[in-house]
Amino acid sequence: MVIDIRKMMNKRARGLDQYYTSTALAAKVAAVVRNLAPGIVFEGGTGGGAIYNLLPNPKFGVDVDRDTVNRLQLPGVACESLFDVKADDARFGAVAVQDRVFVSNPPFGLPGVMNAALSVMQYIATERVCGKMVVIVGRTMRKWSNMMRMPREWSITEEHIPDSLALNKFVDQSNGTTKTVKVVVQVWQYQPERLRVDPVFVDVCADFVVLSLKDHKQANLVVLQFGSIGTVFQKVWSTPDELATMFAWQEKSTSHSGSHFWLRCTDPNAVKIRIAARKTDYVTYMTDTLVGNNITPNPRELISIYVHGSVPYTRPWPVRRF
Ligand SMILES: C[S@@+](CC[C@H](N)C(=O)[O-])C[C@H]1O[C@@H](n2cnc3c(N)ncnc32)[C@H](O)[C@@H]1O
Repeated sequence: MVIDIRKMMNKRARGLDQYYTSTALAAKVAAVVRNLAPGIVFEGGTGGGAIYNLLPNPKFGVDVDRDTVNRLQLPGVACESLFDVKADDARFGAVAVQDRVFVSNPPFGLPGVMNAALSVMQYIATERVCGKMVVIVGRTMRKWSNMMRMPREWSITEEHIPDSLALNKFVDQSNGTTKTVKVVVQVWQYQPERLRVDPVFVDVCADFVVLSLKDHKQANLVVLQFGSIGTVFQKVWSTPDELATMFAWQEKSTSHSGSHFWLRCTDPNAVKIRIAARKTDYVTYMTDTLVGNNITPNPRELISIYVHGSVPYTRPWPVRRF
């Protein structure tokens, strides 16, 4: 399902999405783009031109911010929404879709804007506007459940993790302050020939159900979500006393079910042991190569971790560090 964020964006006060990329990171992004030997480059959301100015020709760009577009007069940049640039846009000339590279630092600085970044990427992918894209996205985009929302014919072919803190700093145009957002530069490509079936994520398993909060008192196993990197073994509660303590805690808690999985298991002990074993793999994998700061699985991932003999992440993406 493609989420149309145009309405969402219109609601935002102007300036809120405008976290501009540093020159240092922009230079890295431009190098990644150049390496793809594009026939033409299209940037969606050129902003102050940090990236755009360094992109190879031929290129064109758009931004919805009329004042900035008019003030900067960047060659080839027009004031319009990237969602209005269609696959048959005259600016692409005769360049085949596969040779067009889309570049963007889509909005990610605000809570919930991962949807915004994703919908920009989904738009380019599903409408086949370009055949490749280089995007700066928040590192939480590396969560499998988010990446699964891209069309299956698209694969990540490169990831570059800016290691230095300076490369993860963005300037908020509304007030000039800097904000640190842990980002990753991803290259996605339309590669239907590489399409293969990944291990199927399962929603159900025979040994337990993940209860919703309203049914949490039916739980006979409570698992603290895997949480931060430092946690070696997740906490579990399964004896009657422990469960009573947890139900009482939940009663008083103002939080939603976010921090714990409430499970109804046929054999809580067996589930407990297996989750603990799988969880160690998952944490190692996630902290080594993936998100870096958020390794909490969602219920679907928990079930997949439990059901599959290994973590359900099969693509060893070539991760490079800037
Ligand atoms: C995070 S800023 C990045 C700006 C610049 N590319 C950079 O990296 O410094 C996102 C930019 O996208 C623009 N933008 C937001 N929605 C857009 C849309 N629908 N179409 C085109 N540009 C958009 C904003 O005005 C803003 O300049």
